[in-house]
Amino acid sequence: MSAQAVPTPSSYEHLLDVHDLVMEFPVKGGGIFRKVIGKVQAVSGVTMYLDAGETLGVVGESGCGKSTTGRAILQLHKPTSGSVTLRGKELTTMSNEDLRGVRRNLQIVFQDPYASLNPKMPVNDIIGEALKIHGLWEKDGLDRVGDLLKLVGLSPEHGNRYPHEFSGGQRQRIGIARALALEPEVLILDEPVSALDVSVQAGVVNLLEDLQDTLGLAYFFIAHDLSVIRHISDRIAVMYLGKVVETGTRDAVYNEPKHPYTVALLSAAPEADPNSERSRQRIMLTGDVPSPLNPPSGCRFRTRCWKAQDICAAEEPPPIDHGGGHLVACHFPVTDISKETASAALHAARGFSSGDPREGRQEALRRVESVESALDIAKGPVGGGGG
Ligand SMILES: Nc1ncnc2c1ncn2[C@@H]1O[C@H](COP(=O)(O)OP(=O)(O)OP(=O)(O)O)[C@@H](O)[C@H]1O
Ligand code: SF4
Ligand SMILES: [Mg+2]
Repeated sequence: MSAQAVPTPSSYEHLLDVHDLVMEFPVKGGGIFRKVIGKVQAVSGVTMYLDAGETLGVVGESGCGKSTTGRAILQLHKPTSGSVTLRGKELTTMSNEDLRGVRRNLQIVFQDPYASLNPKMPVNDIIGEALKIHGLWEKDGLDRVGDLLKLVGLSPEHGNRYPHEFSGGQRQRIGIARALALEPEVLILDEPVSALDVSVQAGVVNLLEDLQDTLGLAYFFIAHDLSVIRHISDRIAVMYLGKVVETGTRDAVYNEPKHPYTVALLSAAPEADPNSERSRQRIMLTGDVPSPLNPPSGCRFRTRCWKAQDICAAEEPPPIDHGGGHLVACHFPVTDISKETASAALHAARGFSSGDPREGRQEALRRVESVESALDIAKGPVGGGGG
């Protein structure tokens, strides 16, 4: 299917709709008046949606704005601008009282289960607290908490213990039980397994999948582990420096990535098959992630992109639909991954040859040549436009 421009939605049709969300944090200087001297552009015009019962995986490097997006959806950060609707109700303009009601339907599970559970409260109180705050605690409240503990694979007897008496995986199960107490439709899961040992991660991921099947939950699943994201997501949104650069079904994003950043990110993910893993060509991006205080003009990825052209600095690429809702914000989307991997390797080697004074020119040229021969590609100009 040919690429199409994406129309701006005039109505909201999904369970959760996020449209053009902007979240900026003021940076204050020293002195008595502590004047605002800049702003961190943490989230810059994010548009995404979540349907009932599905999982949207949100992935990207540290600092790209994943958690801020999740918190701004929940209105834990008041967005600078943009719209967040849940079942068609606008949250950004809601009073705090109305938001309390909405939060029954929209709950969050944090990365660090220990920091997010009050160490001085027994588990029954931690889970029961949400019911009490919302006026839902009745005489069978403790039974309800016991049921929630069973739902997450613990037993009602665990309710009298304190958080420090549990393992990391068990503590995360308590965090999930607390989030489920109010019977929400949407869970924002902010790196829910990243702090856990690899051996217990699978148990918590399986639990989340079972709960989704049983309760029809929708997950906004933030992670930087690409294998977890691939396993659990129906659709994926890839973020870079406060923007969504690519979004689509899991298979579209993993099998046919089109944004250069996604291609680079996926090239770094280990393969389960040892043969594929041995032959995996990794793209090493050159340069640091720019500061969100002063992001690059046009495409924010252009300072690290091997395909960048003049237009990339001049014009921000709009998201274009490459078919089936596979949206890519790039002037020159990737069509041939192995060719791009070779181009990126050459770009990195050439950047290296001119960038590191400790390396002699001969050594740098040798590296360029070895990359060229290893990748078996023709010498000459690479990485140009249309590709
Ligand atoms: N309260 C805040 N005040 C100022 N800057 C903030 C605040 N919260 C986040 N930021 C900045 O916003 C940017 C996005 O941060 P965020 O925590 O959303 O990233 P992330 O993608 O979740 O990263 P990680 O993978 O490390 O959790 C970062 O530059 C961060 O320093
Ligand atoms: S080709 Fe241009 S628009 Fe596309 S990611 Fe690279 S710099 Fe950005
Ligand atoms: Mg985060």
